[in-house]
Amino acid sequence: MKDRLRTHLLPGLVLENPLLSASGCFGAGLEGASTGESGILGAIVTKTVTLRPRAGNPPPRIFETSGGLLNSIGLANPGIESFLERDLPGALALGPPVIVNIGGETSGEYAALAERLQDSGAAALEVNLSCPNVQGGSLPFSTDPDACRRVVSELRRATDLPLFVKLSPNTHAVVEVACAAVEGGADGLTLINTLLGMAVDWRRRRPRIGMGVAGYSGPPVKPVALRIVHQVRRAVGVPILGVGGIQSAEDVCEFLVAGASAVQIGTAWFTDPRAGSWILSRLERLLAEEDTSVDDLVDSMGKERRSGRGHGCA
Ligand SMILES: Cc1cc2nc3c(=O)[nH]c(=O)nc-3n(C[C@H](O)[C@H](O)[C@H](O)COP(=O)(O)O)c2cc1C
Repeated sequence: MKDRLRTHLLPGLVLENPLLSASGCFGAGLEGASTGESGILGAIVTKTVTLRPRAGNPPPRIFETSGGLLNSIGLANPGIESFLERDLPGALALGPPVIVNIGGETSGEYAALAERLQDSGAAALEVNLSCPNVQGGSLPFSTDPDACRRVVSELRRATDLPLFVKLSPNTHAVVEVACAAVEGGADGLTLINTLLGMAVDWRRRRPRIGMGVAGYSGPPVKPVALRIVHQVRRAVGVPILGVGGIQSAEDVCEFLVAGASAVQIGTAWFTDPRAGSWILSRLERLLAEEDTSVDDLVDSMGKERRSGRGHGCA
């Protein structure tokens, strides 16, 4: 049964199952330890860490809409030194491989973080090029193919840890940007970060979120995420971590078939702190019923199978 759940992300990175935590929705994994959730994951993806501590954005930072969640946390985090000293050792002790998500404002900051994490025990880095909640932040890296290629190339020179580049859905050029990330040396991609959204308190003539515009996530974004995973998978041959609105084992299977090699659970943790366990046990059952496996489902929609880095990119 265990073999059915295993996913072969990269030659050196085989996960026991395809469920990962989405960055920012599971801390450094320690909160999930009390419910047993952290230990069952295929890998833990930590909240974005930056070189220096960040206080984040002014409140309110979260607003629940009639469908989906708006957030504008602004990458609040204690900075890399505190993360290495306090958070990462705890996360590594939980069992699953730990993928550290990093964020910066310049390519030099990304490279410095990668160097600092090289011998930290992290199994891979997830490169957040796509936070919508930081002014003057990383979003241009996720919307401009040349800027993306440059920052990933610099990261590639800085570390030999596997690099999963996390991209924004807030561009018409997501396939071009994904291709540029692979050309720059990305080993895989994470698709997608939040959409841009807004909620309005009309009586007070104000936005509901302190910064006005915020990141939109949860079940309503799933069709957008599925579309992007599939379009990008048709263009590139590297593994994709699919994320956006996943809340059931059926959702997981849809992402795998559309082209993801593993998935991340984000907003679903906020509605059910045991979401990972429920999804995993149902996934096991679904795979057994269909007599199939995660590896078989990956990218199984349509006949054209692709391989190789950058295949299909202009
Ligand atoms: C409260 C909150 C905080 C987030 N913080 C981060 C973050 O620090 N870094 C990052 O790369 N993505 C962050 N995200 C985006 C998620 O990792 C994920 O890409 C997005 O929410 C879509 O997945 P979902 O619909 O399953 O939540 C955050 C999302 C939420 C809801």
